Amino acid sequence: WVLMATGRSPTNIAVIKYWGKRDEALILPVNDSISVTLDPGHLSATTTVAVSPSFPSDRMWLNGKEISLSGGRFQSCLREIRKRACEFEDEKKGIKIKKEDWEKLHVHIASYNNFPTAAGLASSAAGFACLVFTLGKLMNVKEDYGELSSIARQGSGSACRSLYGGFVKWCMGKKDDGSDSLAVQLADETHWNDLVIIIAVVSSKQKETSSTSGMRDTVETSPLLQYRAQTVVPSRVLKMEEAIKNQDFESFAKLTCADSNQFHAVCLDTSPPIFYMNDTSHRIISLVEKWNQSEGTPQVAYTFDAGPNAVLIARNRKTAAVLLQKLLYYFPPQDKDLSSYLVGDKSIL
Ligand code: DP6
Repeated sequence: WVLMATGRSPTNIAVIKYWGKRDEALILPVNDSISVTLDPGHLSATTTVAVSPSFPSDRMWLNGKEISLSGGRFQSCLREIRKRACEFEDEKKGIKIKKEDWEKLHVHIASYNNFPTAAGLASSAAGFACLVFTLGKLMNVKEDYGELSSIARQGSGSACRSLYGGFVKWCMGKKDDGSDSLAVQLADETHWNDLVIIIAVVSSKQKETSSTSGMRDTVETSPLLQYRAQTVVPSRVLKMEEAIKNQDFESFAKLTCADSNQFHAVCLDTSPPIFYMNDTSHRIISLVEKWNQSEGTPQVAYTFDAGPNAVLIARNRKTAAVLLQKLLYYFPPQDKDLSSYLVGDKSIL
């Protein structure tokens, strides 16, 4: 017999960034972070996991190609889910798996990203969230999403925030074992539906410095990171929670842009410095800043992760349409730097 489960998880975009770990093995961050989860229709991972007594080992395929499961992050997720597996019975099919049997059974995992391959957008958040969620479903895990998020965190930090839709906070936690470092939902996917997200794909190249190694270098060398994590982020998180609750776009946009800029400042403060944004990214920032200034109140927020692609959050559909026109005017499609735009609102990208 073979038993299967399938799940889908979208990626999330941080508006208050996670950058820096206080524990590398458990993936515990130096500060809280807040994100918006996209609609699963776009930029999401779909994963099917199967278990059978005839499988001799654990195996995984990503976008149709077999990948190694030997990495510590995959192993942590598998181990933590297996620990919480519960008895399963399907009388019709004559399948009965006792709690202790799960340890001996092997899994086959097939995962697909619907990310445009050329987009160069991060996929580990959606991937690990989906892996943990689907394994949990297969193994009849009873734990709530918060607990599952702390397992997904051990695959990739940002993945813990993709267990929930809407607006999500990853609480850094205080405990050494990481049990209180998990995601909580601030508002569900129906909240603040006016927002529209446009992702401007500036470069489809793989990033030169991975988030994992980049943030390790930052922790080791940047004096600015301490100030950011201890002094700036705690009050910014409180203000961001208020802005989200009240759908206060002015505060939301100011905080989002400031936090993206400080994250990239911290990268620059790293030795050797890390440059994730390029000239096109800087031109997009100028365009948005000038527009916001001329309107007297922010129309669009920008945020950049560990790469040059711009995530632009417009206050409503009308503004998003104007933004798209501006982008197409200043960065016409023949401009090879800016290869495509992905458009949608925060829940329907
Ligand atoms: C810039 O979650 O990819 O996107 O925990 O080492 O896997 P690891 O890093 P990852 O880092 C994401 C960093 C970021 C900001 C964010 O998503 O908060």
